[in-house]
Amino acid sequence: MKTRITEMFGIQHPIIQGGMHYVGFAEMAAAVSNAGGLGIITGLTQRTPELLAKEIARCRTMTSKPFGVNLTFLPSVTPPDYPGYIRAIIEGGVKIVETAGNNPQKYLPALKEAGIKVIHKCTSVRHSLKAEAVGCDAVSVDGFECGGHPGEDDIPNMILLPRAADELKIPFVASGGMADGRSLVAALAMGAEGMNMGTRFIATKEAPVHQNVKDAIVAASELDTRLIMRPLRNTERVLKNVAVDRLLEKEKALGANIKFEDIFGEVAGVYPKVMTEGHMEAGAWSCGMVVGLINDIPTCKELIDRIMAQADEIIRGRLARFG
Ligand SMILES: Cc1cc2nc3c(=O)[nH]c(=O)nc-3n(C[C@H](O)[C@H](O)[C@H](O)COP(=O)(O)O)c2cc1C
Repeated sequence: MKTRITEMFGIQHPIIQGGMHYVGFAEMAAAVSNAGGLGIITGLTQRTPELLAKEIARCRTMTSKPFGVNLTFLPSVTPPDYPGYIRAIIEGGVKIVETAGNNPQKYLPALKEAGIKVIHKCTSVRHSLKAEAVGCDAVSVDGFECGGHPGEDDIPNMILLPRAADELKIPFVASGGMADGRSLVAALAMGAEGMNMGTRFIATKEAPVHQNVKDAIVAASELDTRLIMRPLRNTERVLKNVAVDRLLEKEKALGANIKFEDIFGEVAGVYPKVMTEGHMEAGAWSCGMVVGLINDIPTCKELIDRIMAQADEIIRGRLARFG
C-alpha cells in the first residue's frame, strides 16, 4: 500500500510502532522495520546519549530497513541532555525522528539540516497545526483511547481524525486504539495516511519485555485501563492493577492538593520492574483501551501481514460490495 507516509519514510506498509519506554529497544524497532513497518527506538530509555548511540548501532546490525528514534520532551526540573541525544541520532545516521510531549521547535533546525524527517505526536488539532507551522513533516494524531498520555481534551479518534484531516496539510497517521486491518481502513477513511500502534506491538513475540506483560495484555479487556494523574494535568492511561487502585485512592483523598511526591511510589522507576522483571503490580504503566482487541502474541511480521491482508479484504471485498 502506498500513502504519503510510506513514501515519506521509505517503508512498505503504513504502520508505525510508536516509541515506548522500556519496550522500544533495538529488538522491537528492528522486528517492526523488518516486517515492512517503521520501528522506533525510544531515545530516553537509554540513560545517556552514548547508550543511545550504541542502541542505534545495535539496531543497524539487525535491520537494513529504515527505523526511527523517539524523543519525548517532558517537563522536567533537570532535563535530559537533549542536544546530546540529537547528536547521537544524527551521527547514527537515523533519518526519522518521532517527537512527543513539548513543542520540538527548538531542535528542528539541527534535525532538518541533517535531512531527518520529523513526525510529532499530538493529542489535539491545535497542537497538530502548531507542529505543521513550525516545520514538522508529519503528525501522529493520538486520540483519547491511546495508551500513555492522551492530553486533557478527551477527544476520541472518531472525531479527532476527521478534524485533523479538515485542517492539516501535512500527512498524519492515526494513533491510539489501532489494532488490526479494520483500524487501518477506518483511519484511512477518516483522512489518515497510516496508523501508529503502541500497545498492540507489546504483545508480539519479538517485543523485548517479560512474558507476564504480554500475558496481561492478552488477558485484559477494554474496561481495564484507568486514567491517572488527571489532577496534575499529566493524564496517563495505564493498565489497572493494585498500585493504580492505590494511586487513584490517593487522588480521591487528596483532591486538588495532590502533588507528584504523593504518588511517587506508584509511578517512579516502575518501567524496568514491569517490563524487564515482569512484576505486574509494581506500579502504573501505560496501556491503551485497545487491549480489548488483543487476543494473541504473533510475530511482528505475522501481525503486519495480517493487518494488510484484512485491510485489503475490507477495501476490495466488504466495502466494494456497498458500492
Ligand atoms: C508501555 C508504553 C510506553 C510508552 N512510552 C512512550 C514514550 O516514552 N514516549 C512517547 O512518545 N509515547 C509513549 N507511548 C505512547 C505510544 O508511542 C503510542 O502513542 C500509543 O501507545 C498509541 O496508543 P495505543 O497504545 O492505543 O496503540 C507509550 C505507550 C505504551 C503503551
